Amino acid sequence: MNVRKKYVLTVTLNPAMDKIWKGRYVSAGKNSICEKKMLSAGGKGINVTRALNHFGLKSITTGFIGGPAGKHLCQCLQKEGIGFDFVLLNAETRTNTTIIDVRTNQITRLVEEGPRGKSRDFQNLKSKYFSLLRKRWCVVLAGRNLPGIKENVYFDLIDMAKRKNVLTILDASGKSLSFGLKAKPFMIKPNLEEAQYAIDRKLDSLLKVKKAVHFFFAMGIKISIISMGARGAVGFDGHNVYWVKPPKIKVVNPVGCGDAFIAGFLWGIYQKQTFSESMQFAVATGTMNALSLQPGDVRQRNLKRILRRVKVQAL
Ligand SMILES: Nc1ncnc2c1ncn2[C@@H]1O[C@H](COP(=O)(O)OP(=O)(O)OP(=O)(O)O)[C@@H](O)[C@H]1O
Ligand SMILES: [Mg+2]
Repeated sequence: MNVRKKYVLTVTLNPAMDKIWKGRYVSAGKNSICEKKMLSAGGKGINVTRALNHFGLKSITTGFIGGPAGKHLCQCLQKEGIGFDFVLLNAETRTNTTIIDVRTNQITRLVEEGPRGKSRDFQNLKSKYFSLLRKRWCVVLAGRNLPGIKENVYFDLIDMAKRKNVLTILDASGKSLSFGLKAKPFMIKPNLEEAQYAIDRKLDSLLKVKKAVHFFFAMGIKISIISMGARGAVGFDGHNVYWVKPPKIKVVNPVGCGDAFIAGFLWGIYQKQTFSESMQFAVATGTMNALSLQPGDVRQRNLKRILRRVKVQAL
């Protein structure tokens, strides 16, 4: 497959305006003063596209948007030069808020459920998605489903992409992940909690995490990577299991680390790096994300310095 001629497609079914609020002495029931705030287009697929664009890898995003918040989201994407092609809903796109207490470094997220979709909306998305799959070498399906849309939505979308020979990466949680797994995507990247839910087992040791990636492989997933926040990630490509560890850092905002991780991994594949090198790059990109305020912003120049400090261990 000539990846150089084709772009990446990302799908965010339930995108959000991401509000980041920074202040000190944040306490429930009390007034706190804002020191810095930021409003940007968010949602897992959008974050992946943003990070890919920073690497110079062309990517376009789709999903559902609606109302004034949806309009604002498109304006934000336009300003950033991020390509999009959404299905319009007759309901308002959600707004999520991340509250960062700069004194304690504690992070609180206020996550909205999002607008309700109808089955007609899903049919509209499917036909847009079908045409957007043309000229793509990879599709990333990431994040929460839209309330009202059938739970096995990812099964259908993965199946359609596979029929068109497009690589599929699934980053979902709960039932969306469980249903999506049945379509055997090329790659999955759950975090520990999501992987635990999917296989209904506690992953409280490295050995159990190693067994879990083998388990996913036996299910027909070619590449499975379980990310573990500050402890890095464990991945299996059917040949080797690697545990890749990031350096210690002072976290600014951990939201979107998994999304940046996926973008980093894709960049590795695009550069024809080996599996372990791609994982190393992915971990460094995830770590870079934790150092920036905006999810998916991996522009900082010290990526190479972080990459040198990422350790790879065969398990
Ligand atoms: N505190 C941290 N220190 C260093 N690196 C981190 C930290 N948190 C995350 N990372 C990097 O980001 C990667 C993905 O993180 P994590 O497992 O938290 O993803 P996630 O839970 O899917 O995040 P999200 O869904 O919000 O995007 C990790 O493997 C690691 O490389
Ligand atoms: Mg995640």
